[in-house]
Amino acid sequence: MANINDNYLKLRGSYLFRETAHRAAAYKDAHPGAHVISLGIGDVTRPLPEACIKAMHKAVDEMSAEETFRGYGPEQGYSFLIKAIIENNFKGLGIEEDEIFVSDGAKSDTGNIQEIFGTNNVIAITDPVYPVYLDTNVMAGRTGTCGSDGRYDGVIYLPVNADNNFVPELPEKRADIIYICCPNNPTGTTMTRPQLKKWVDYARENESIILFDAAYNAFITEEDVPHSIFEIDGAKECAIEFRSFSKTAGFTGTRCGYIVLPKTVKARAKDGSLHALNKLWNRRHTTKFNGTAYIVQRGAEAVFSDEGKRQVKETIDFYLENARIIRDGLTSIGITAYGGVNAPYIWLKTPNDMPSWDFFDKLLNEANVIGTPGAGFGPCGEGYFRLTAFGKRADTIEAVQRIKERLSI
Ligand code: MLT
Repeated sequence: MANINDNYLKLRGSYLFRETAHRAAAYKDAHPGAHVISLGIGDVTRPLPEACIKAMHKAVDEMSAEETFRGYGPEQGYSFLIKAIIENNFKGLGIEEDEIFVSDGAKSDTGNIQEIFGTNNVIAITDPVYPVYLDTNVMAGRTGTCGSDGRYDGVIYLPVNADNNFVPELPEKRADIIYICCPNNPTGTTMTRPQLKKWVDYARENESIILFDAAYNAFITEEDVPHSIFEIDGAKECAIEFRSFSKTAGFTGTRCGYIVLPKTVKARAKDGSLHALNKLWNRRHTTKFNGTAYIVQRGAEAVFSDEGKRQVKETIDFYLENARIIRDGLTSIGITAYGGVNAPYIWLKTPNDMPSWDFFDKLLNEANVIGTPGAGFGPCGEGYFRLTAFGKRADTIEAVQRIKERLSI
């Protein structure tokens, strides 16, 4: 009989957003008339920018004629998109075309990247954290088992909470691979350039690699928050950056993202020799991936047109206004809320330190609103709760109104 990968047996429960969806579905089955509003999973509700739609229609037409039809494209992405990415997002940072790898999104990329690292690496993650970083390392066998405190042996947890202003402290024990998400999912908070510089310096001193998830950078409104880790001196020696069109331009269902992996980022083989991670990732990407659809890449390219930029800005402003509505509404009834200024997530302190899954049930039962329990993102998320600003305006206003009127706190 075949064997399974036993590491999968170490995973706790189901994937967080499957669990919340399951509970919400059970509630809806039991209350068929209820109008349940989801401010749970960070899925967008605004349609794709018109500029992207036009570009994709044109690309579909190209696929219908023999002269313009495209089969397999370059696995790393078409040069037209890579050039637009560099010109618009990394201008002056010295990023070269063969340092960008276009993909089907940041969830896959942040999950897959760990394949090029040895299983003996010690990973450091913030607590709370986007669950994909941890779960994919559990699957790969880079952790021990999960203890009753909800923490896996062998993982360095970096608590982020109101006490440290949601900025992780450098670890006491050496970390090989460090995951940083900024603006942060789930807390919606950010790090400044000097705060990020401390991590870059740490990584260089310790020969560590930083996996920097910048999927939410389009929401940054404050000057001192870096859009890219490559704005920080020395990051090109120790960091890999993940970007996505999902939250920027509504591509959650269209799928497009990319990795920025400078050729100067290196790690050691067992014999001590140094190897460029770009080469390893290129090998992995070309072996396991046949490229993002041409039509989708044309849509992504249009994000950088003048029309696309204007439309994307409108959408981001729309979600940031939702965030403001949620934050103000919560604050007005005495709930402490963080985030939502440079990010589409609001991280609230549950009233009276209520356990976050209890608050999930309470919010669902009393206000018919779905959110995401902080504990689902890690033990330090206990007592917190996440709401997303990606809802429709009317739903967001209605949800806040219900929370204010119906929630007994
Ligand atoms: C979230 O809600 O945290 C995100 O939508 C999940 C994701 O982007 O995969």
